[in-house]
Amino acid sequence: MSTLVIIPTYDERESLPVTVERLRSAVPDADVLVVDDGSPDGTGRWAERAAAHDERLHVLHRSGKGGLGAAYVAGFGWGLERGYDVLCEMDADGSHRPEELERLLERAAAADAPSLVIGSRWVPGGRVVNWPWHRELLSRGGNTYVRIMLGIAVRDATGGYRAFRADTLRALDLAAVESHGYCFQVDMTWRVLRGGGSVAEVPITFVERTAGESKMSRAIVVEALTKVTRWGLRHRGEQLRGLLRRADRG
Ligand code: GDD
Ligand code: MN
Repeated sequence: MSTLVIIPTYDERESLPVTVERLRSAVPDADVLVVDDGSPDGTGRWAERAAAHDERLHVLHRSGKGGLGAAYVAGFGWGLERGYDVLCEMDADGSHRPEELERLLERAAAADAPSLVIGSRWVPGGRVVNWPWHRELLSRGGNTYVRIMLGIAVRDATGGYRAFRADTLRALDLAAVESHGYCFQVDMTWRVLRGGGSVAEVPITFVERTAGESKMSRAIVVEALTKVTRWGLRHRGEQLRGLLRRADRG
C-alpha cells in the first residue's frame, strides 16, 4: 500500500524538521507532502531545500494563509492524482506522534478496514499531554456537541490525525468542502458517514507542541459552532420530513 502523509504548515520552521525526521524513521516507506501557505518564517523554504535531498518529500506552496481545510483539499488532490492508496493527515508540531502512525495504517489496511481511521484522543486509551484545561474543555465540549447535533458516535470528530483510503476521498466531492478551519475535520467525518462510509477510532496520545504557536482562534471556534449547528438542524429537518412522509403513508 502506498502512503502519503500530508502535513499542512503555517509558521512551523522550528517544529517541521523534527516531525519530518521522526516520520522518516517511524514510517520510512511513506511519502510526505508539506502544504505550506507562504509561512513568513520560512517553513516553505526549509521544506523546499529538504525536498531537494529527499525524493520522498514533496512541497506544495500556496500563496497565503487559506486555512487548514483548503490546505488539505489541495494536498488530497495532489495525492489522488498520483495514485496513493492511503492519504494521511498529520500536524507539523509533533502533537501527532509519528511513532503512532503505523497503528493507524494497520487499521486502514485491514481486510475489514473502515473508510476513515481517526487517531482519537477521546476513546479509552487515548489521552492528551500538556494541554491547558480550557483547550481540553473546548475539545471535549465541542465533540459532545457534534455527537449530539449530528447524531453520530464518533468521540473525536475534530481530531486531525487521520488515515483516509483513497477510494473514500474519491467518492467525496472535495471541491464542495468549504470549511476553512478545524471544523474541516468534522465536515470530512460527516461527509464520510453520510455517504454510507464507516469511521474507526484508534487511541492516540496527543502531545501539545513545545515550539511555535497554535493557530486556533476565535474565528475558528465560531465557524465550527455555526457550521455544526447548521448541519445538525438540516439533518434533524430531513429526519422529521422522513417521519412525516412515513406517517402520511401509514
Ligand atoms: N497550510 C496551512 N494553512 N496550515 C495550517 C493553517 C493554515 O491556514 N492553520 C493551521 N495549520 C497547520 C499548523 O501549522 C499545524 O501543522 C496544523 O495545521 C495544526 O495546527 P495547530 O495550530 O497546531 O492546531 P492545534 O494544535 O491548536 O489544534 C489541534 O486540535 C484541533 C482541534 O481538536 C489540531 O490537531 C487540529 O487538527 C484539530 O482539529
Ligand atoms: Mn498543534
